[in-house]
Amino acid sequence: MNIKNNIILALDVMSEKEAIEICDSIKDYIDTIKIGYPLALAEGLEIINKLKDKFGFKVICDFKVADIDATNEKICDETFKAGADAIICHGFVGSDSVKACLDMANKHGKELFLLTEMSHPGAKMFLQKNADAIAEMGVDMGITNYVAPATRLDRLSDIRKIVGNDAYIISPGVGKQGGDAKKTLEYSNAIIVGRSIYEADNPKIACENIIKSTK
Ligand code: XMP
Repeated sequence: MNIKNNIILALDVMSEKEAIEICDSIKDYIDTIKIGYPLALAEGLEIINKLKDKFGFKVICDFKVADIDATNEKICDETFKAGADAIICHGFVGSDSVKACLDMANKHGKELFLLTEMSHPGAKMFLQKNADAIAEMGVDMGITNYVAPATRLDRLSDIRKIVGNDAYIISPGVGKQGGDAKKTLEYSNAIIVGRSIYEADNPKIACENIIKSTK
């Protein structure tokens, strides 16, 4: 995936109106947005194509898909049919569940991101212990896109070593969660930023400043 300025907006606002206002203010700097459950549950999956049509964005759906294979297949199918360019799935559920997502992404000619280790403190309790193995599973399955944390650069670096330099890593946790944009981009291909942009008094300037800080 080619992402303008290596920055993805996590659009976790709760209405179409707010979403359009934020997108309007950052559209010169950003061409890829991440939509998760907050906005999708508030406005329905139609919000994907509404924002794509209005702004020409690429949309990554952060649905952290984590069910049995048969259910994952249905979740991914509906999400791609609704216009998503990519979907994020969890890896801890195992290769059969992940394969269902990968197969559906391939069927639609879309992309799958495999989530290895999450960015929040709670990820240390269970997920971190298995994150390397999740990344190794992804490599064995031929997955080329990953999500890994901006909040723990040592772990991001470890995951980069496992998935290799040709893999594409996107990293949440910059800004509000404490991650640094420039340092993250030493290991990651793109940062994911939410609240530091959409909660800012001036999202456009916040966005500009983050991009400047990466140069
Ligand atoms: P903030 O407001 O903290 O938003 O900049 C971060 C966004 O990223 C999501 N998030 C994650 N998504 N793996 C993911 O796939 C993660 O480890 C992870 N950590 C945060 C979060 O839901 C929000 O949309």
